[in-house]
Amino acid sequence: MEVITAVKGFKDILPEETGRWHYVENIAREIFSRFGFKEIRLPVLEKTDLFKRGIGEATDIVEKEMYTFRDRGDEYLTLRPEATASVIRAYLEHSLYNAESVTRLFTIGPMFRRERPQKGRFRQFHQIDVELLGLDDPRADAEVILMLMHFLTTVGLSKVSLELNSLGCSACRPTFRTVITEFLQGKEEGLCEDCKRRLGSNPLRVFDCKSRECQEIIADAPHLSEFLCGDCRSHFDAVTSALTEFEIPYQINPRMVRGLDYYTKTAFEVTTEHLGSQNAVAGGGRYDRLVQELGGPDTPGIGFAVGFERLIALLEGADFTATPTPDLFVASLGDAAQKMAFVLCNSLRRKGIHAEQDFSAKSLKSQMKKANRLNCAYTLILGDREIEEKKAELRDMKAGTQQTLPLDNLDQSILKLIKER
Ligand code: HAM
Repeated sequence: MEVITAVKGFKDILPEETGRWHYVENIAREIFSRFGFKEIRLPVLEKTDLFKRGIGEATDIVEKEMYTFRDRGDEYLTLRPEATASVIRAYLEHSLYNAESVTRLFTIGPMFRRERPQKGRFRQFHQIDVELLGLDDPRADAEVILMLMHFLTTVGLSKVSLELNSLGCSACRPTFRTVITEFLQGKEEGLCEDCKRRLGSNPLRVFDCKSRECQEIIADAPHLSEFLCGDCRSHFDAVTSALTEFEIPYQINPRMVRGLDYYTKTAFEVTTEHLGSQNAVAGGGRYDRLVQELGGPDTPGIGFAVGFERLIALLEGADFTATPTPDLFVASLGDAAQKMAFVLCNSLRRKGIHAEQDFSAKSLKSQMKKANRLNCAYTLILGDREIEEKKAELRDMKAGTQQTLPLDNLDQSILKLIKER
């Protein structure tokens, strides 16, 4: 019968890979909590309107990448394509702003975008997402970026670059929008179909468009930095000088607009040359209007998300022990010995020992080979003869030494030996 495979773009994370995932998650949890961030866990399914309103209708994500379906009732639901909108939904739904004026949250989990799968791009992928709500101070931007860069270097990434831009605010961006609309006038025919269609609703998207024709047209366009208002300019200057003070290298990329519409002021991306065309490991920025646009009080925010798979791909080659090695292998031969091994293994496991047994009743020699392969610290040899003589042999696999243990209180003696090791 034909084997059913996983859905295209949806990937299994196999046991040999999960060690890397744990390693990264542990560092993330450790570092983020040092900066005062608390973990929040959120559902993967949300009402479609949350993302339409949050991310923006005229973005690639909302226009063509969301997994949206009509529920058996009449509601439109979407598998979350990103976490920011969901974090804010929960922040508002549970009035987290009442508890503290500044809220620092992070979440780790799967996101879904129906993009064309390729190296570093999946339809189900994972993000480590961080959001800081309630501060418009540029020090918050610098702190969040510093934490991201510290996290990436601690995990082991060295050759990454941080790109920064300011996307302005509701005071200065409309002027720039008019300038770009005028700049694109007469050039419409050369644009891709998406950009042509979005010209009226979202002309800035052309900067983010991957198509070569759009990139060529936009190459000579004016930059937003020339049109920033005084507030946005001084905010950006304060962010960059704080980064300089922290000795965090960055490059200003005046053409970066990010693929989501909620950004205001600071926007950033961390890229690397080692990921091919999908070169962003992380992206984020400030979103001072989003909480209000999702129905909440006027609350500024800033955050970022790291692409978990891309980060893991960059760690390829690094040495991780995915599966912990067992403390004990119980090799047993004969019915009585097998039965005893079964009881012993499970009793020791409940006492905190990682014990293994082979149910196959193969020869003692092949069981010893398996113990070796698993890299066990000890092997207990239990044959029918040993049971008759009321003893068992315990072999220290590293030292190559062996000792005889009485069957009486065998679990206690083993427990003691392993704990004292
Ligand atoms: P984003 O730039 O869309 O931002 O995604 C962040 C990161 O997720 C990317 O830099 C990339 O590493 C990873 N990523 C995105 N799409 C895929 C994919 N199809 N396959 C594999 N990895 C992918 C956001 O999602 C914002 N919510 C970040 C943010 C948080 N801004 C403020 N707070």
